[in-house]
Amino acid sequence: MNNDFLWWRDGVIYQIYPRSFADSNGDGVGDLPGITARLDYLAELGIDAIWLSPFYPSPQADFGYDVSDYKNVDPLFGTLADFDTLVAEAHRRGIRVVVDLVLNHTSDQHPWFLESRSSRDNPKRDWYLWRQKPNNWHSIFGGRGWEWDAKTGEYYFHMFLKQQPDVNWRNPEVRREMLDVFRFWAERGVDGFRLDVFNAYFKHPDFPNNPRKPGFALRSFDRQQHIYDIDQPEMYPLLKEIRALLDAYPERYAVGETFLATPERAASYCGSDKLHAAFNFDFLFRKFSATDFAEGIRLWEAAIGENGWPNYVLSNHDQPRSATRYTKGEDDARAKVVLGLLLTLRGTPFLYYGEEIGMRDITLTRHEIQDPPGKYYWPFYKGRDGCRSPMQWDESPYAGFSTVKPWLPVHPNHLRRNVKTQRNDPGSLFHFVRTLLALRKQQPALLRGAFRFLQVADAEVLAYERVLEGERIWVYLNFSAQEKTVSLPGQARSLFSSHGEESRIFREVLNMHPYEVSIVHG
Ligand code: GLC
Repeated sequence: MNNDFLWWRDGVIYQIYPRSFADSNGDGVGDLPGITARLDYLAELGIDAIWLSPFYPSPQADFGYDVSDYKNVDPLFGTLADFDTLVAEAHRRGIRVVVDLVLNHTSDQHPWFLESRSSRDNPKRDWYLWRQKPNNWHSIFGGRGWEWDAKTGEYYFHMFLKQQPDVNWRNPEVRREMLDVFRFWAERGVDGFRLDVFNAYFKHPDFPNNPRKPGFALRSFDRQQHIYDIDQPEMYPLLKEIRALLDAYPERYAVGETFLATPERAASYCGSDKLHAAFNFDFLFRKFSATDFAEGIRLWEAAIGENGWPNYVLSNHDQPRSATRYTKGEDDARAKVVLGLLLTLRGTPFLYYGEEIGMRDITLTRHEIQDPPGKYYWPFYKGRDGCRSPMQWDESPYAGFSTVKPWLPVHPNHLRRNVKTQRNDPGSLFHFVRTLLALRKQQPALLRGAFRFLQVADAEVLAYERVLEGERIWVYLNFSAQEKTVSLPGQARSLFSSHGEESRIFREVLNMHPYEVSIVHG
């Protein structure tokens, strides 16, 4: 591999939802030692970094996205010593570690909030957003964004649950404390940060009402234009400060979760004195169609520009999994097409745990639902539990995740769909992903190469070129259930096919199987 490999640009980042990856102590909830025990698997798969969803002390009202201590580990997940071991063991295998910082809000059980709500003249009163009169802002998790506090006779604002009060980033002490959280984890050897809803940190100082958005939307939150509660200009100088802090350490990285963002808005937060990356969630909402994905790529490439660096995501802990969205039944042909796309575009790919074995969402009855927005909006929206089910390691009763009944049910398909079975099947999705990850490392053009669409005379085949220093790689994705024949721009040799044949190139023509992923060297 080239020694100019830069992990966050050239590597693949694998998101782990710690509750659901591996339970080492038999309490039905995954934990840090469980992850450490599975690092060999991740090294075998070939990913370059793990991003851990929150493992900090938390009452778990939003399953860890409600933090009550930013500088510790919840006993549910282990100890700080377990964390240090995880980092050391990951680094020993060349795997970087990204942690999730939830700094827009704390838990209502955080000592800062307990103090803040204790009286109107408490020194930490101003650390949160207290108002005598609420404005029209809403919580995305349902209802008004303002919660009445009877004891002190004021309302506090929460963009998410009422157990997640938003902090006041305009307060210099809050700002100092929060920046110190970055330092704390960077000093412990953490390589990168995923910033939860960072573009909501600042609210307009005068709290004006958001204007109404025309048209109907189910959630009251979506019936407003969010111009005063997110994306305030104060974010840019803060990002500059965060970046300077990170740049004081070697090869540190920050990726922002851009809340409600357009590609342009997400791109505006990225750059050499801003974040390294900001998520564009476009792919989570694309149809299974070559033209629809092409449109998503075109928009994101245009927003980021050829000197910027995109990133792509098909699944995460907030949305139905890619295999759930794009496949029917247990067939993985279509999952291979979208993962083939994810892993060959220009930009950092993010994989979500279990995506490499095509895990599907679980279906829950109403009483099984754990996710608060799922409870609130049921039956219109059933929440995010579906994509958070336990990792399917093997066919045993709890899928090798745990020895006891896990916090969420295991998908019944784990009897056949699991790591153990797929490792033994060369045609499996696991091997497809693993081979592509290895191919990326052998072909620098797949990592850093420029991107250009290739014109093929068939709207169901998505084709593009990656080129680096004269090395040309052409990627062909057949989004249809039909065989296709496409012409190549020139002579080529096959590098990879989802259908396992080395070469079906005849002169400058490529014959494709239904749903084939074909990568050729020009
Ligand atoms: C982000 C997280 C989501 C969480 C919310 C509040 O959107 O991805 O899981 O519920 O922020 O922290």
